[in-house]
Amino acid sequence: REEVVTIPIVVHVVHHTPEQDITQEQIDSQLKVLNEDFRRANPDVDKVPEVWRDLVADARLEFKLADTDPDGNPTNGVVRKETSVESFDADHGVKLGDRGGSDAWPADRYLNVWVCELNNALGYATFPGGPAEIDGVVILHRAFGTTGTAEAPYDGGRTATHEIGHWFNLRHIWGDDGDGCSGSDFVDDTPNQGGHNRGTPTFPKVSCDNAPHGDMFMNYMDYVEDASMYMFTTGQSERMDAALAGPRASFLS
Ligand code: ARG
Ligand code: ZN
Ligand code: CA
Repeated sequence: REEVVTIPIVVHVVHHTPEQDITQEQIDSQLKVLNEDFRRANPDVDKVPEVWRDLVADARLEFKLADTDPDGNPTNGVVRKETSVESFDADHGVKLGDRGGSDAWPADRYLNVWVCELNNALGYATFPGGPAEIDGVVILHRAFGTTGTAEAPYDGGRTATHEIGHWFNLRHIWGDDGDGCSGSDFVDDTPNQGGHNRGTPTFPKVSCDNAPHGDMFMNYMDYVEDASMYMFTTGQSERMDAALAGPRASFLS
């Protein structure tokens, strides 16, 4: 695929306190980061170590707030919903009106993004192929966008980049096998890596006999802080393409 594909997003702002009812400016700041990160247009891309520079991908994906709602009426792509739930668990409750959440828009036409107070996680995502009612990504409001309630060190908008990576079928770069060396992310150009990385690692960080270059901890699909992640690889971009050619093909056209 050569063309850029634009994905319409609906942001469900599910709020119990006025603080959680985040501003349009904060939402726009998140869209800006997505439109940089998935186009290799992020200002920090030049921090990628020289040895991996040729692998950095332009995923040719863009995002815009939906301009038409499921009934065909004009919308700004933001649903605001007051809730009695003080804080949601990562159990899909925020996606369901009868649990104090906001119902999904049709998952074959919109990427549903829920922003709320969330217990014990910065965000979570569904992979392609699951039930439409819960399809999409959930982001803690304090890890959403780059302004407003966004809080360091997760105020770079990268939680949504990471979770939308999952939504396009990307796995964690370490292969989800704890600290083991046998797990895979099913992408050929990412180095085999032990466990996840946290914080702000320094290159090179070696695990699983992956010397001399070590872990690609600056990949969006690791767990480092927002300022330490700045790339998808060509192999990851191809995997996202495959999701778009397959289970997410309704977004082409
Ligand atoms: N699902 C991960 C979590 O909740 C998201 C990690 C995002 N990392 C980041 N630097 N924003 O912990
Ligand atoms: Zn993840
Ligand atoms: Ca591993």
